[in-house]
Amino acid sequence: MKLFTENSNVYLRKLQLSDAKDLAKVANNRNIWLNLRDAFPHPYAFKNAKIFLEKLNNETNTFVFGVFYKDEFVGVSGLHEQYDIYKHSSELGYFLSDSYWGKGIATTAVNRMVKFGFENLNLQRIFASVFESNPASRRVLEKCGFTLEGIKKKGVIKNGVIMDEYFYGITKE
Ligand SMILES: CC(C)(COP(=O)(O)OP(=O)(O)OC[C@H]1O[C@@H](n2cnc3c(N)ncnc32)[C@H](O)[C@@H]1OP(=O)(O)O)[C@@H](O)C(=O)NCCC(=O)NCCS
Repeated sequence: MKLFTENSNVYLRKLQLSDAKDLAKVANNRNIWLNLRDAFPHPYAFKNAKIFLEKLNNETNTFVFGVFYKDEFVGVSGLHEQYDIYKHSSELGYFLSDSYWGKGIATTAVNRMVKFGFENLNLQRIFASVFESNPASRRVLEKCGFTLEGIKKKGVIKNGVIMDEYFYGITKE
């Protein structure tokens, strides 16, 4: 499944098992790891990519796409559907190879994921949380129409540093 965007150089495609090599190449990056939860491995080996993709294959509530720029695999974005009283909402995640930062690619990808979530998954709410140390990600969410809903003071510890966690959300209008 491919999702085209308003930028003809950027599209998203559902991740498949054969993406393991590309995924490991992009994900094996400390600059990415520093901004994600510790469940995201570092170093990120081919084996980690394979395990992740095999698990993904059996999940029905997680939709993860590769982000492609000029037909090259440069990143990942996904929506993780919630349960119980939160089942109308999904958590959004994304990361991009640091060689491609600053070109507007994440903003294009996130905009498309939001559209996919509201139109194809019938979600009512999409949310994301960002570490205090990550102004670029906050800016991406703000450019995509997300609202800062709250700040959890000292909400996370990453790489030994305690930081605030910023919560962003967008609802289907
Ligand atoms: C966050 C991330 C996805 C952004 O990707 P990107 O393609 O560079 O993002 P974009 O180019 O679409 O937009 C980045 C915006 O942040 C701004 N920005 C970058 N560094 C910044 C900084 N230090 N302070 C303030 N703004 C900053 C850019 O200027 C740009 O805004 P603009 O268009 O108004 O100029 C990328 O840095 C990444 O993968 N980081 C590691 C993983 C991660 O943080 N994932 C999200 C976890 S919540």
